[in-house]
Amino acid sequence: MADTLDVVAVVGSLRRESFTRRFTQALGALAPPSLKLEIVGIGDLPLYNQDDDDNSPAASEAFRARIKRAHAVLFATPEYNRSLPGPLKNAIDIGSRPAGKSVWAGKPAAVVSVSPYAMGGFGANHHLRQALVYLDMPTLQQPELYVARVESLLDASGKIANADTKDLGTKFLKAFDAWIRRNAPG
Ligand code: FNR
Repeated sequence: MADTLDVVAVVGSLRRESFTRRFTQALGALAPPSLKLEIVGIGDLPLYNQDDDDNSPAASEAFRARIKRAHAVLFATPEYNRSLPGPLKNAIDIGSRPAGKSVWAGKPAAVVSVSPYAMGGFGANHHLRQALVYLDMPTLQQPELYVARVESLLDASGKIANADTKDLGTKFLKAFDAWIRRNAPG
């Protein structure tokens, strides 16, 4: 296993000022030196179409290749109508195909859900986990990370301002680091 883990963060919001992306960036700053978090864009992915499995658009191929290279994946999701946003589900579907060539299979994962409201995206978090079961991704169970009232947790420079959230974020990443090393394929 590499000394430094390459973790791709797939952020489920396309919004320019996305809280989810800002929180994920702030979380990355809390990572131990042994774990590097890089956000990968999903905004240029086409809608998944099974007809294209034999001749995939370049953006889909590049996305699959980036996930394949990573040691692990952090899914960071907002909540849309008590579920995960369409673009994130689309990215997951793209990575899962062609059949038998899923780039997700066996790759350790973790989930963070983010919301400006009180429930911290619980519904999105667990709908996402349902797909990760099918995709055979060993997914960190504890600590769970539901980020509620996100606006009150970030300061003007984009850092996590709340001490408890900072502590939880640090514990989450430390646990994820250990989880990745324990569940690395092979
Ligand atoms: C929302 N929002 C929302 N929030 C929530 O906590 N639960 C929900 O079910 C929903 N549903 C929902 C549906 C749709 C279509 C939109 C556009 C928004 C509000 C949402 O949390 C808010 O817009 C966040 O700012 C979205 O995350 P980003 O883009 O800031 O990362």
